Amino acid sequence: MRNLLDIMDLSTEELDGLIRTALDIAENPEKYAECCRRKKLATLFFEPSTRTRLSFEAAMYELGGRVIGFSEASSSSVSKGESVADTVRVVSNYADIIAMRHPKEGAPLVATRNAKIPVINAGDGGHHHPTQTLADLLTIYKEKGSFEGLTIGLCGDLKYGRTVHSLVNAMSRYEGVRFVFISPEELRFPRYIITDVLDKKGIPYSETASLEDAIPGLDILYMTRIQGERFEDKDEYERLKDSYVLTPEKLIPAKKDMAILHPLPRVNEISVAVDSDPRAKYFEQTLNGKYMRMALILKLLGLDGSKEEPKESVKSIFLEGLKCPNNRCISKTEQELRQEFYAADEEKGIYRCVYCDTEVRK
Ligand code: CP
Repeated sequence: MRNLLDIMDLSTEELDGLIRTALDIAENPEKYAECCRRKKLATLFFEPSTRTRLSFEAAMYELGGRVIGFSEASSSSVSKGESVADTVRVVSNYADIIAMRHPKEGAPLVATRNAKIPVINAGDGGHHHPTQTLADLLTIYKEKGSFEGLTIGLCGDLKYGRTVHSLVNAMSRYEGVRFVFISPEELRFPRYIITDVLDKKGIPYSETASLEDAIPGLDILYMTRIQGERFEDKDEYERLKDSYVLTPEKLIPAKKDMAILHPLPRVNEISVAVDSDPRAKYFEQTLNGKYMRMALILKLLGLDGSKEEPKESVKSIFLEGLKCPNNRCISKTEQELRQEFYAADEEKGIYRCVYCDTEVRK
């Protein structure tokens, strides 16, 4: 059984296959209209969502299937103290596939260990958001015709913005890609992805606080919202929330074919005046998300004719007395969940939490 927790669960060939299927669905929707007849998708959303939940639901309906679920934790028995593990054990009896969003990082991993049906991570805290990356990849592919040789600028909240973490992981597989990380010092891109992914593969990147300096060199500008809900220090959020606002004036030195992406929702980081610029692709990105989610549902239900590729499971270990220090980790709240780690650099005594990838040292 396949799940999707992290975009790296999919091989490059599988990503290519999903893109091909999504493009075919967009061209020939009638061909797919009955593929999921008698199948049910459960949308378990413990955190607010417009695009992800509704595009999953639209995707399942357009495949001829049905949808059950909830859109906030307060309308489920989680509000009475039920665990993630028990919730998915129960839902496994009612549905064929689960799409789950949760504020705690690693909650979808707990779900996969307890569900009898495939689980899709629809966003876990500031950790991963792989189906947004599917939407991003289709948008980039349609705009550029290839993923190779692109300079991608990621701007805004690179610390808590889970979509940028998944996108960098995915794009790091392609030749000639380089990244420009544009953020305030406090919201820099996570070091663990830089060391584990970019440094290991020798992928060039630079970091700057200036959007104006970075913009002329970019093929893709990926704007993000400052994620107020993830800050422990609300004063820090107030100080940083207006760090970047993309305006038509700031776009003057940009390449004529630069594509502007944003996972949405936007607050004020892209001026509404930019929407009419032909380079603005963020609303098309939301439609691409629906097609990619349709392709993904078909794949995980084994209805796309592709062969299942075995996935190596993470080898976890228990380190006596060590606890994950991340307050957003599911291990802080899920009942009787054991602390588990995997080795990042055993010689240096560096380990990471299996749920949220936060570093711990022995
Ligand atoms: N991009 C995204 O995840 O949007 P929602 O929070 O509305 O689902």
